[in-house]
Amino acid sequence: AKGEIPEDLVLIYKGILYPSFMCSEETFHALECFEAREDDLLVVTYPKCGTNWVFQILNEMLLFSQVKVPSIYQAMLEFGKPGKIQSLKEASSPRVFATHLHYRDIPKSFFEKKVKTLLILRNPKDTAVSYFHFSNNNPVLSSYGSWDLFFNDYINGKVCYGSFFDHSLAWGKHIDDESIMAITYEDMKLDYATYLKKISDFFGFSLSEEQLVVVENKTTFKSMKENSEGTHGKLGNTFFRKGEIGDWKSLFTEAQSKAVDAKFEQHLAGTKLGEKLNY
Ligand code: A3P
Repeated sequence: AKGEIPEDLVLIYKGILYPSFMCSEETFHALECFEAREDDLLVVTYPKCGTNWVFQILNEMLLFSQVKVPSIYQAMLEFGKPGKIQSLKEASSPRVFATHLHYRDIPKSFFEKKVKTLLILRNPKDTAVSYFHFSNNNPVLSSYGSWDLFFNDYINGKVCYGSFFDHSLAWGKHIDDESIMAITYEDMKLDYATYLKKISDFFGFSLSEEQLVVVENKTTFKSMKENSEGTHGKLGNTFFRKGEIGDWKSLFTEAQSKAVDAKFEQHLAGTKLGEKLNY
């Protein structure tokens, strides 16, 4: 139907839509018995919440220990062929992973091994606007004729990776787990140096102030956008659009804004996560 993602572009696994050109059912099966290691690092986000930003931060931080991180395409747990999961057994430590998976779909060994997990959250309205533009600007994704069509799919969880609210609620129940640190895109935008230090401390990198400044300079929006072709290939610039807080106001109608507020109330109000997001 008009406005919905064409069937050939999506895979449905356990009730959630995924981009079929990136994910396969076989890979999901292979992931079920994936063996995490205690010194793995994991970044978790719902799409468009700052995955590439934080992944690059970890990249730059690890370079000080001469650790070379693979591309984000390889690091995304659920992307690629099942053979990739097999080959990860041979990869040297520390391995860095990113994922958009819901809590219930993360391989259990990540929790058993208490793998340090950085959860990045973002205002649901800015996330929607970012997702809309990304879908339209990236030729491999299905584009939407209008913002209203996208909004309906987003609010009903009919986009890849399902509902923002289900994703956030499930992860939000674990934000106090010892191995998880949750921070918001907004926190990082407003007080970058402080949150870079928190990230470095959380992963035990013990970087000096000078090293943190180097990381800060290399991971500004401007710098990442300029280097996007090198880090992501030809479509790199589609990942670095505006990098601001509050762009939702450019597209949301009053009614759409209220609909998101109501969903927020229904799922997240009164939760620790709701407090953290505080949009
Ligand atoms: P916008 O579309 O609002 O600009 P993801 O990496 O999860 O796909 O998220 C993409 C969003 O993060 C985009 O948001 C992108 O511009 C923003 N982003 C990427 N790098 C950033 C950076 N260094 N600083 C701030 N925002 C960044």
